[in-house]
Amino acid sequence: MTVSAYQRTHRHSLLDPEAFWGDAATDITWITAPTKILETTEGTPGYKWFADGTVNTCFNTLDRHVQLGRGSATALIYDSPVTDAQEIYTYSELLSLTETFAGALRSLGVGRGDRVLIYFPMIPQAIVAMLACARIGAVHVVVFGGFGSAELAARIDDARPKVIVAASCGIEPKRVIEYKPLLDHALDLATHTPQRCVILQRPQAPGELTDLDIDWNALVSSPEIEPAACVEVASTDPLYILYTSGTTGKPKGIVRDNGGHAVALQWSMNNIFDIGPGDVFFAGSDIGWVVGHSYIVYAPLLAGAATVLYEGKPVGTPDAGAFWRLIADYKINGLFTAPTAIRAIKRDDPDGDAIGQYDVSTLRGLFLAGERLDPDTYQWLTRVLDVPIVDNWWQTETGWPIASCLLGLEPMPTKPGSATVPVPGFDVQILNNDGTPAPAGEEGAVCIKLPLPPGALATVYGDHERFERSYLSTYPGYYLTGDGGYIDSDGYLFILGRTDDVMNVAGHRLSSGQIEAAVGEHPGVAECAVVAVKDELKGEVPRALVVPTTVYADRVDTLPAELSDLVRAKVGAIASLSGVDIVPGLPKTRSGKILRRTLRQIVDGQTPDIPSTIENPSVVAEIVRALHP
Ligand code: COA
Ligand code: AMP
Repeated sequence: MTVSAYQRTHRHSLLDPEAFWGDAATDITWITAPTKILETTEGTPGYKWFADGTVNTCFNTLDRHVQLGRGSATALIYDSPVTDAQEIYTYSELLSLTETFAGALRSLGVGRGDRVLIYFPMIPQAIVAMLACARIGAVHVVVFGGFGSAELAARIDDARPKVIVAASCGIEPKRVIEYKPLLDHALDLATHTPQRCVILQRPQAPGELTDLDIDWNALVSSPEIEPAACVEVASTDPLYILYTSGTTGKPKGIVRDNGGHAVALQWSMNNIFDIGPGDVFFAGSDIGWVVGHSYIVYAPLLAGAATVLYEGKPVGTPDAGAFWRLIADYKINGLFTAPTAIRAIKRDDPDGDAIGQYDVSTLRGLFLAGERLDPDTYQWLTRVLDVPIVDNWWQTETGWPIASCLLGLEPMPTKPGSATVPVPGFDVQILNNDGTPAPAGEEGAVCIKLPLPPGALATVYGDHERFERSYLSTYPGYYLTGDGGYIDSDGYLFILGRTDDVMNVAGHRLSSGQIEAAVGEHPGVAECAVVAVKDELKGEVPRALVVPTTVYADRVDTLPAELSDLVRAKVGAIASLSGVDIVPGLPKTRSGKILRRTLRQIVDGQTPDIPSTIENPSVVAEIVRALHP
């Protein structure tokens, strides 16, 4: 049997990780090259990558290319159908804006290790702010613009930013979302107060500035601002914190380092996405999510490619041809999006007719992640597009794909429903409940044997114990992904979904606990459970089952609308409840744990499994009667 390039590379990465990643590390520019590639350390996770290296990530994304004579190459393409704007920035121009804003941040007292919270829609200044932080060794904390005040406040209190940088508004197809009042309200809710807020005023809805605020344009044009040079940071210093949903209502701050992140993303661009200098890459995600951090901002720029920043939707801005128009306009070579976006396009243009109206011949690969690529959507894509369709599975925690087809290394056949094969660096194993390996084809917990490769999280910000408890304690020596799945006899990985209370709504990761916390604040709610129910477009949507308080018993008719408004205000419109059911009680185990699987089955109209540990079996029949009379 011949050994493929993929098999050889994967095996090499696991058998000799030091040689493998030491070699990959030469593709980025270090200030001090690391001599220790993989160092064993005390405590968890028990290792560090590139521990004695020093680096600057912003240098690697911008200055390096300018110094190599590519300053006039395109770095950033901003396309905004919602404001009718299109702008192109070269590497030199993006560097100039970034060094100026880095100087502006420094003038506000921001330095190495200080957190800067960024609350922005998809506009170029968001990327400038992120790279400016990296330039001066500050740690950015980007919060998705679709989150409401309570979510924003939770992140402000956890990260304790010295400065917040925000735009006055975001523009959704149906309306302008005023970010400034959301930020002001979040600051009222939070106990931490930043030293300053830098506000970028957008003409569509300028915000009212307070004494804490300073106008972005006034700040950067002030004569005292000096462009800031790159600061030398340790490879292991944090580059950013990105909050993601855990199983409780409190988000987890995933901490990403500098050196490992740059090495891993650079490797992924060459070997997975097959993108290099001069190519154009478009990730149709949002900078507030990990896909945006990695594949809108850092990876394309590390690779010397041009990145497309799109302030619009896959449909409705103006139609289902939007992505194909972008490919034609900017000669895009790689497109990365979420399956839900493709389902929306397919819903509006079932035969893919719009594709024929544009020249999409530059496209070499379509990459999908954020949720499972369902076989229907996969088959549709293979019918309407003549490029490899690459499902890739990963998470905020890993920062880059754990499983994928590796277009740059060795394109391999794909299978519907599978994210293809484990990426080099990831030792993916399927474990049974007792920690023994599951045989090929059998479902279990998808785990990764330690060490995780460079780029993956090192800890949870401010709570290392939570990092250990969430990811490392279930199966010692392994990282628990939280997904269930199996590996078939050809080594292909199939991800079947979360095994915990995390849900995936239109490619957005939300937790039941996060939404329950908002619902539970209503005085009419005695008890509640939020479960994910299947949705044709968004994959899953949240639905609340509510036991009303006795004082509210005669007002239950108004509860659903009030609870929907509450969730939109507290968590954000992306978490909108698909329904609220008034129920007489919730099924629980004897230890008081809500039986969500049973609830999900009832809501989906299936016959519920009733575990033997149930405390109150009669409530199941009562809920079934209430929901399906
Ligand atoms: N800022 C403020 N509000 C936002 C927002 C943002 N960045 N993003 C979404 N919202 C709001 C929307 O305006 C909408 O509000 P509404 O209910 O008042 O109309 C609500 O949140 C839900 O938005 P969304 O989940 O986008 O649903 P939709 O029905 O408007 O659009 C899709 C459906 C499929 C087109 C859309 O979900 C989509 O583009 N999905 C791709 C997701 C993606 O790329 N995920 C990244 C993971 S890689
Ligand atoms: P996030 O951290 O927001 O990227 O969400 C990560 C979770 O999304 C994973 O744990 C999976 O449950 C799901 N996910 C992401 N990509 C895929 C994929 N390609 N296939 C199946 N599930 C996916």
